[in-house]
Amino acid sequence: MSFVKNAWYVAMWSENLKDGEPQERTIVGESLVIYRGVDGAPVALQNRCPHRSAPLHMGRVCDNGNLECGYHGLQFDATGACVRNPHGPGVIPIAAGVRSFPAVERHTLVWIWMGDGPADPARIPDLSVIDRSPPEHVTYRDVLDMDAHYELVVDNLLDLSHTAFLHRGVLGNNDTVSAEIRATREADTVTASRWMPGVKAPGLFDMLFRRDGGIVDHWAAITGRRPRAWSTTPGSPPSAARAARAPGCGACTCSRRCMSARRFITSPPSARTRCRFPTTSGRTS
Ligand code: FES
Ligand SMILES: [Fe+2]
Repeated sequence: MSFVKNAWYVAMWSENLKDGEPQERTIVGESLVIYRGVDGAPVALQNRCPHRSAPLHMGRVCDNGNLECGYHGLQFDATGACVRNPHGPGVIPIAAGVRSFPAVERHTLVWIWMGDGPADPARIPDLSVIDRSPPEHVTYRDVLDMDAHYELVVDNLLDLSHTAFLHRGVLGNNDTVSAEIRATREADTVTASRWMPGVKAPGLFDMLFRRDGGIVDHWAAITGRRPRAWSTTPGSPPSAARAARAPGCGACTCSRRCMSARRFITSPPSARTRCRFPTTSGRTS
């Protein structure tokens, strides 16, 4: 299977990487050992000892931050270099090292760069919404293993027309089968949006926003950042609220009734500057 390697991949939630507890993760077919170094920063190394191929995640993190192989005790630093051989005269063969991978902790996630290209942290997808959210809004953090080709998962996420059927009564209903669909592409993102004005609020949104069965203007947008970071932006303002903002939404300087009206509900004022309404060419203005 071929993968995009020059990209930041999520390895785990930060809270799952505890001091002194090396973890194993397989990313783009590569088994990694990930642990916190002496300064607490995440370290990612190839998970195969060059001596007898023991998986390094079964070793231990020493007080000096080195990772010690659990088989015969070779130690490796954060660059992957073997820095201690506890046997005999302690000779360290030149080839006794493992590949290290850039690792960064951001938005309460541990990100690993798997390629040979420059690992620029500025290319980490902006998931700062996680940082800004009050604790009561971040309801659940978990991992979902799927025995499926990742491209099928991408298909599922980009095509939210399934929500009216697969998530009937929760994320969709008979009113949300039809929608105005927009697709936009930017540098390394793609957004698929469904706009469903004047519908009965799907059950989850009715419950969250206490619409009490009222008619709403519902939307569901999903943005993907190549190759594997996805974020959704759904919402359900009452129809009357949207009508009051027409023809301009008030969220940008244009005079159109646009999709950024949806951001009006959930985004801070600083984010309400750019019209996101896609033109017929598929770009945003
Ligand atoms: S297999 Fe790692 S030290 Fe021997
Ligand atoms: Fe779904």
